This record gives sequence, structure tokens and C-alpha cells, in this order.
Amino acid sequence: MQNQLNLLNRISDELNKDLDPDKMLRRVLNLTVSHLNATTGSVMLFDQHNRVSAFILQQENLSDDRASRIVGTVLTEGFAGWVLKHGQSGIIYDTYQDSRWVVYDNQPYDVRSAIATPLRRRERVIGVLTVVHDEPNQFQEKDLLLLNAIAGQAAIALENARLFKETEQERVKLSAIINNTQDAVLMTTPDNRVALLNPAAEELLKTRGKPWEGVEISALTDNTALLKLLSPDGPTTGEVPLPDNRTLWATVTTVPGMGRVMVLRDISAFKELDRMKRNFIQAFTHDLRTPLATVKGYMELLRMDGPLTDRQEEDLVGIARAADQMKVLIEDMLELSRLEQLEELAGEPVAIRDVVRKSVSQMETAAKAKNIQIQVDMPEAGDMLIEGNAVLLGRAVGNLLDNAIKYTPTGGEVRVVMRQNGGRVVVSVQDNGPGIAARDLPRVFEKFFRARQEMDDIPGSGLGLAIVKTIVEHHRGQVWVESQPGQGSVFSIELPLHTGD
Ligand SMILES: Nc1ncnc2c1ncn2[C@@H]1O[C@H](COP(=O)(O)OP(=O)(O)OP(=O)(O)O)[C@@H](O)[C@H]1O
Ligand SMILES: [Mg+2]
Repeated sequence: MQNQLNLLNRISDELNKDLDPDKMLRRVLNLTVSHLNATTGSVMLFDQHNRVSAFILQQENLSDDRASRIVGTVLTEGFAGWVLKHGQSGIIYDTYQDSRWVVYDNQPYDVRSAIATPLRRRERVIGVLTVVHDEPNQFQEKDLLLLNAIAGQAAIALENARLFKETEQERVKLSAIINNTQDAVLMTTPDNRVALLNPAAEELLKTRGKPWEGVEISALTDNTALLKLLSPDGPTTGEVPLPDNRTLWATVTTVPGMGRVMVLRDISAFKELDRMKRNFIQAFTHDLRTPLATVKGYMELLRMDGPLTDRQEEDLVGIARAADQMKVLIEDMLELSRLEQLEELAGEPVAIRDVVRKSVSQMETAAKAKNIQIQVDMPEAGDMLIEGNAVLLGRAVGNLLDNAIKYTPTGGEVRVVMRQNGGRVVVSVQDNGPGIAARDLPRVFEKFFRARQEMDDIPGSGLGLAIVKTIVEHHRGQVWVESQPGQGSVFSIELPLHTGD
């Protein structure tokens, strides 16, 4: 008994020495053979499709070809096949009397008795361990118990080795990705110490081979944007400007129990393109103002030089209307580019109720002209202050009302609803106009986008909603639309309320 325990302990030690399944199995085989006073033995392992993935004969170094021939024989007709099929261990007292024993070609030793046991992972048989003797009746029931115990240990060790290998492969794969990506990846612990920097992040923080592990992040960089993003309740995305004029876009994910992972991508090229586009539009619209004023001037001169025929007067009205539209467009483009260039809004507390009331009253005339009564529904209680700019906010609500009135047919309904939602306020402008097709919905806030409907005769430049979006974003808010073609549209603006601190 003591002897058997010793053996099991030794086997356990041997198994844990190595994570290479081949070496591990050879050790188990050698120990088992010598302990059971057997002549020799073998182990075979199966993969998840029950194909043989390893086969070790103690006395022979097998060629692949020979191994597969032997395996074929013993698995289809032989003892190992029986163990696999029945999922249980067994003893052959005398191979001459037992049909389960088959002799494979050129077997270099004689076998008269054998004992074999399955190796299991959970319920499945993953291998068979067999030991043999050249005399009959060499194995008994008690040997089976021992062999089963050995097989149990071996199966656990194999499973550990497999899991380790899998984890190791994953680790190698992940670290190859992290180390080779152009994006900087950095990870900090909950107490803001650096846990990981990939080469791109080392380059970014200019650590130059100095150790960084466990170093507080503030000791590695003084970039305020970056430090803010990594602070415990910092924002999860944002731009990180660098001293060399590059701009990075950071995304931060909190990994519970581990800390924060930040990925930084260079967006300088996009920023530059956007800046060029804006500069171009600004310069170009600016330059259009003067010739447009000249056109209008000459129109006045024409009238003064008159008299004009009715036909000429009519044409002139057409030209004037087009020139006015162009002027609005130019003003809108200039306003948009001014807004886009605005770094930070100089805000003051604004009573959003007053803003809405004022916009409504400014649009009343246009509404009346189309026989539309603007309904207003808002709570009368509470301050509802917003940190921002009253003129810009008025412009945003005004643009939504302008659309609602413009696109809704005569006699339609337009409604402004205001609701407080926790620390935020939502202002919705609803109409029962033509609505917007689903395919156009995602694009209505784009510059110059106009939905293609039968409303080509409704004037507009497609900048109104782009202006609304820019203004709302400057106020740290959101704007969205819900619409059903034929039913109407609801445009909503959500803004954070001023907390007063
Ligand atoms: N209330 C609405 N009902 C139906 N369609 C709308 C409504 N509001 C906007 N749209 C659609 O969205 C497009 C974009 O609106 P946006 O206000 O940006 O531009 P616009 O009204 O065409 O021109 P601008 O406002 O610059 O004079 C419109 O052309 C229209 O197709
Ligand atoms: Mg508009």
C-alpha cells in the first residue's frame, strides 16, 4: 500500500516536471512498466475527433508509417480498441486464450498477458495506457486499481498541459498583435501605475528603454489630455494633442479588476484634411460676398436706369431671389465654419425656456403664413438653466422650427415639447409633415445634404441641421431625429443642465 502511494507521488512529481505531453507520457510509461514488473508498454492519445494524436511504444521509436499501421490494427481488432469502445479497463490473463489480443507485424517481443486502462477527460476517453508481460497471468485486479489511479493523474496532467499550451498560444498571438500595431496601447492599474506599454506607446511617451512597469503614469508624461483620460472617472474617448502638432484619438476601456486600457490612434492626417477643407470653404465663401454685393448693386442701378418693362421687372425679381438665397447660403457657411473653429464656448447660464419662447415667437409669422399654429408644451416649474450661449441655442431651435414649418404643408401641426430628464433637458420639435425616408435619416445632419423628395421647389442649402448639430455639440449635448415617411418628424435636442457649481 505504502509502496503504491510512493509510486503515485513519484508519478505526480514526474508529471508536473514537464509540460511537453510526449515526455510526460514516456515518464509515466517507464514508471508504470517498472512498477508493475511488466515487460513493456504503450500509450496512445486521441484528439477530439477520436483520431490518434500520439502513440508511444516504450521499446520502439516508431516511424510514422509503422505507427499508423500498428494503431490501425490494435484499434480496430485489438485490446486498445476494446478499452476505447467500452470506456473501461481490462485484463488479458493469457493472450493465447483471448481474442482481444492481436499481434501486429514484426512485433519485437512476446506478449502473453496485458492490462490496459482508459485516460479520461471528463466523460470522454482521450487515451489508452497498456502494459504487457511475456508470461501469462502476470496481472491481477489490484494492478487495475493502481493503473487506474496512474491514468487519472496522467489525464489531469495532460489536461493542464493542454490548457497551458492554449493559453500560451493566445498570449503569444495577443502580444504579437499588441507589439506590432501602429496604435499605441497602454494599460494602467487602478492606482494609475503603468502595467503595459507596447512599442508604439513607448515611442509616444519617449521612455527610451527606461523601465516603466509600476511607474506612476504622471511620472512618464505631463500631457494633460492623456492624464485626464486615464484618471479614474475621466472621459472614455477624446483627442490627445501632442507637442509635435500631431493629434491622437484615444479610446479608454475599463477592465474590471485590472485597470484601464487606452488605445491611441494618429488622426493628424484627418484633422489636417478637415482643417484644409474648412479653410477652403471659409476663404471661398468670404470671397463670394463682394461679387454678390456687386450683383445686388447693379440690380438697383438697372431699376434706377429704368423704366423697365414688366417682363424685365419680373426677371429682376427672379435674379434678386437667387441672389438672396446665395447670400443666406454664404452666411450659413461662414457661420458653420466659425462654429467649427470655435475651440471652447464662453458660456453663461441660459434659461432654456426663454430661448424656446423667443424662437417660437420669431417663427410665428412664417407659421401663420402657412396656417400653422405652433403648440408649445413645457413645464413651468424649475430653473432649467443651461451653460452656454443664448443666441446660438436660439439659432439651433430656430433652425428646427424653420424646417418643421418649411416642410409641413399648409394647415399642418408643429409642436415644441420640452421635458426635463434627470440632469438633462430635451427639446423636441414635432411636425406632421412628409417625414424622412429611412435611408436618408442617417445623413440629414451632414453638410449640404438634402433629402431627395418631391420638394425640390422648397428652397434650402442643406446646412441648417449641420449648424444645429455643431451648436448642440458645443453645448455638450446630442441631437437626433425620429421620422416616419407620411407621418411626420421629431427632431430632439438634449442638453446637460447647468448644475450651478
Ligand atoms: N421637419 C422636416 N420634415 C421633413 N424633412 C426634413 C425636416 N427637417 C429636415 N428635413 C430634411 O433634411 C434635409 C436637411 O435639412 P437642413 O435643415 O439641414 O437643410 P435645408 O432645410 O434643406 O436647408 P437650410 O436649412 O440650410 O436652409 C432637408 O433638405 C430635408 O430634406
Ligand atoms: Mg433647414
